[in-house]
Amino acid sequence: MSPLHYSGILLPFIILFISVTVFLHRRKGIPINWPLLGMTPEILLNIHRIHNFATDFLKLTNGTFLLKGPWFANIDMLFTSDPANIHYILSKNFPNYPKGPDFRKLFDILGDGIFNSDHELWEIHRKTTNMSLFKHPDFQTILETIIKNKIEKGLLPVLEHSNNETDLQEVFQRFTFDTICLLVLDYDPESLSLGLPIVACEKAFTDMEEAILLRHFMPEMVWKLQKRFGLGKEKKLSEAWKAFDEFIYKCLARKEKEDKESTGLLTSLMNGFNGKSVPSCDSKKFLRDTILNLMVAGRDTTSTALSWFFYLLAQHPSVENKIRKEIENKTRGGKWKTITIKELEGLIYLHGGISEALRLYPPVGLEHKSPMKPDILPSGHVVDKETRIILSFYSMGRMEGLWGNDCLEFKPERWFSKGGNGNGIKHEPSYKFPAFHAGPRTCLGKEMGMIQMKMTAIAVICNYRVELVEGHLVCPSDSIILQMKYGLKVRLAPMETINQGG
Ligand code: HEM
Ligand SMILES: *[C@@H]1O[C@H](CO)[C@@H](O)[C@H](O)[C@H]1NC(C)=O
Ligand SMILES: *[C@@H]1O[C@H](CO)[C@@H](O)[C@H](O)[C@H]1NC(C)=O
Ligand SMILES: *[C@@H]1O[C@H](CO)[C@@H](O)[C@H](O)[C@H]1NC(C)=O
Ligand SMILES: *[C@@H]1O[C@H](CO)[C@@H](O)[C@H](O)[C@H]1NC(C)=O
Repeated sequence: MSPLHYSGILLPFIILFISVTVFLHRRKGIPINWPLLGMTPEILLNIHRIHNFATDFLKLTNGTFLLKGPWFANIDMLFTSDPANIHYILSKNFPNYPKGPDFRKLFDILGDGIFNSDHELWEIHRKTTNMSLFKHPDFQTILETIIKNKIEKGLLPVLEHSNNETDLQEVFQRFTFDTICLLVLDYDPESLSLGLPIVACEKAFTDMEEAILLRHFMPEMVWKLQKRFGLGKEKKLSEAWKAFDEFIYKCLARKEKEDKESTGLLTSLMNGFNGKSVPSCDSKKFLRDTILNLMVAGRDTTSTALSWFFYLLAQHPSVENKIRKEIENKTRGGKWKTITIKELEGLIYLHGGISEALRLYPPVGLEHKSPMKPDILPSGHVVDKETRIILSFYSMGRMEGLWGNDCLEFKPERWFSKGGNGNGIKHEPSYKFPAFHAGPRTCLGKEMGMIQMKMTAIAVICNYRVELVEGHLVCPSDSIILQMKYGLKVRLAPMETINQGG
């Protein structure tokens, strides 16, 4: 028989096979696993909405699902949003789940910084960053001063001169960028100034985060080739790399020249690493890595959470009013400026609202893990060191089994505790609410992030009512950080005008 004959006989069977497969899976709503191709067609169709795609199939599979790439590419991914798995991987069996060499390859730009390190190096980073930065005796005072200054000299003037289509996300990104630079580099890039000047390093974060997400879904060979030849997002990533190096090395050089006896947090951090066995071939490079990681940690997480918080708030004016009342009551009619860090705890509507934003839009939407040794997850899935496990934090806030049938609704009251534990705020275990991660690698900047978000939110809420610009599309971007793809366009109505009008 000729090849033509073969295909003549086979074709009806192939068509039948495809039809039956499509029919069976369409009904279930789960991606189809094609011979050779795996689930690639649907991955490609959904790559621009990867978080919602994952949420859809995780809802149908009790929280764990193996997404198969093409047979040759070795990019199969086990998605999970099962709290039992999260608890197991991040806490109970933590030693078996380091970030690993794969993570390091994808995040090569972060070098030997805390996000990228495991084992001894990670322990050194964690201890030193905690002790020399966050537990520095002056940390809270310095933080409060930096934030309040930035609000008065940067945020409020910029908002005052804003037009009727202000991108609030961009404003917040500049705010957190300036803040983290002041904190760890002792330098104010003043990116949050009238006219919103372009600061190359500030813009570079977004480019980096988009390029790295894309790497997750591409065969290594492909993105390496793109990198070599400077194509697509890889080109932007290389440019971002250059912008970071230039910026950080310049700041460090300035600092070195300025004062040898400085007592700031940067000096404390540098002293903290003295005498520790860090990759010592190039101490400047190690410092650059350390600082870049802290900048990544501090800029985008906080600004993203603030943006989603105001997006949700704009759709719930009654909550906005309750928060405003709560603040007025706290300051007894005085200015927002008089609120201290200690007093922030008593603002339970504000706390509940921010927690809801973190639940529905966790800035770190997913996390990538591989076991060192073969293992069986609590859900029964077998994993080995070839398995890429994707912890879908984004999906977790959208599981009815975890948060109830109203899980998609914005309800600050969800976080109120009726019992008498004092501050009126309900605690949720981190493996159910992993916005700040869980276990030994829990976010070191949680307190700082919460303080910064609350103080910024207070300043905005006391001065303006935030309204969404009609017709502006708000959706998550394709990035490792859950930013808004097209920003958050808002109109700001000054509070005096509202009071006069009503
Ligand atoms: C809303 C604000 C924030 C959120 C949602 C957040 C979330 C997270 C998450 C999910 C991780 C784990 C990442 C991973 O292991 O891959 C993490 C780690 C970390 N965060 Fe945050 N973060 C926030 C603010 C901050 C701030 C302001 C800082 C201060 C610089 C900070 C410093 C760190 C550090 C140093 C780590 C690494 C911990 C480790 O690996 O041991 N974070 N954060
Ligand atoms: C940071 O250091 C303090 C003081 O030694 C310690 O009590 C705390 O547990 C540390 N925090 C973290 C997250 O490691
Ligand atoms: C913003 O203001 C400009 C000029 O005043 C006007 O043309 C435009 O329609 C306004 N946009 C919105 C969304 O109100
Ligand atoms: C106002 O503050 C007081 C004391 O701080 C508190 O007891 C009261 O419940 C607050 N009222 C509102 C509406 O928040
Ligand atoms: C869903 O997963 C949970 C946690 O792993 C498990 O306890 C439960 O039995 C599972 N339900 C079904 C229907 O498989």
